[in-house]
Amino acid sequence: MNILVTGGAGLIGSNLVKALTKKKFDTYVVDNLWRGKLENLKENNDFFIDIKNNFYNKDLNNYNNCLEVTKNIDTVIHLADIVAGINFVFGNEAFVFRQNLLINSNIIKAAIENNIKNFLYIGTACSYPLEKQMEIGSKPLLEDEVYPANPESGYGWSKLMGEYELTLAGKLSNMNTGILRLHNVYGPPCEVSEERSQVIPSLARKLILDEDFIVWGSGSQRRAFLYIDDVIDGILKYLKQGFGHGCIQLSPYESTSIADIANKLVKISNKKVNVKFDTTKPEGDKDRTGNIEKAKKVLEWSPETTIDDGLEKTYRWIEKYLLG
Ligand SMILES: NC(=O)c1ccc[n+]([C@@H]2O[C@H](COP(=O)([O-])OP(=O)(O)OC[C@H]3O[C@@H](n4cnc5c(N)ncnc54)[C@H](O)[C@@H]3O)[C@@H](O)[C@H]2O)c1
Repeated sequence: MNILVTGGAGLIGSNLVKALTKKKFDTYVVDNLWRGKLENLKENNDFFIDIKNNFYNKDLNNYNNCLEVTKNIDTVIHLADIVAGINFVFGNEAFVFRQNLLINSNIIKAAIENNIKNFLYIGTACSYPLEKQMEIGSKPLLEDEVYPANPESGYGWSKLMGEYELTLAGKLSNMNTGILRLHNVYGPPCEVSEERSQVIPSLARKLILDEDFIVWGSGSQRRAFLYIDDVIDGILKYLKQGFGHGCIQLSPYESTSIADIANKLVKISNKKVNVKFDTTKPEGDKDRTGNIEKAKKVLEWSPETTIDDGLEKTYRWIEKYLLG
């Protein structure tokens, strides 16, 4: 089976590509390196895919590029989108919305045009309506609770529009379509820059580089953090037994407050640091977790990595990345 991973040089993509090549799938990657990095496709200094023949540095908001990269492919796993931390997402909403609409719409249309057999779309819990995440202890959300739609950000809207377009494509073409909706993903290799990093790498960087340890918002906001290995396990299981079952979400059993994440990271760092909270900064919704009964039943999936283990591995990776 020939598999194309869009966004394959990013956090989830590079781990997925490594897993697919280990399973001997003929794996292709397209990524314009907006946030992904070629070095993410290396293990022990060697590329684990053939960069010359199996890697396309192309921008998917161009339809002709989408047509080119989906030629002779059986399965597309679509991960490429603009993803970043709360700062970037809320500071550049129109850009994020437009980019993601273009990328998603182009790749879905090109996949139909090239008679792709299977198309797996990776969605996000940011697509759930704001009002269902406004209280600490909000009920774990079910897959179909994304409607009536009211995501908090242009990012959440754009990702939901991608799910919607793929659902239409599934009805109107012969392509098997699937949606795996993920809660907050973390783990290596991650973006650590101030501008584009998400909360865990951003806090770890501040600690490692002895920057002011400021947490955005009150710290009481909670997120459902999934370690990367659990996500890859879920994607591989969806490929095997998910098609035909529609949208399935992956979430840990419980959410963790950002203050707890900050304190756990301080403990891992072994540094004497006071956590400061900047309540003038946005903190997003209050609490969000997913009901994983469908993932358990259909995919036989459940999260395995504890938040303490996942944070430790992520922190150590970032430390090595930044300090050598
Ligand atoms: N990280 C999370 O917390 C999370 C949670 C839920 C869902 N997701 C979804 O998972 C997918 C992958 O996320 P990730 O965390 O690996 O992010 P990432 O930024 O590491 O990966 C996305 C990749 O897409 C590439 N890309 C962006 N624009 C492109 C374009 N125009 N053409 C080609 N490539 C382009 C980027 O360079 C990057 O490598 C995304 O679709 C995201 O919405 C991520």
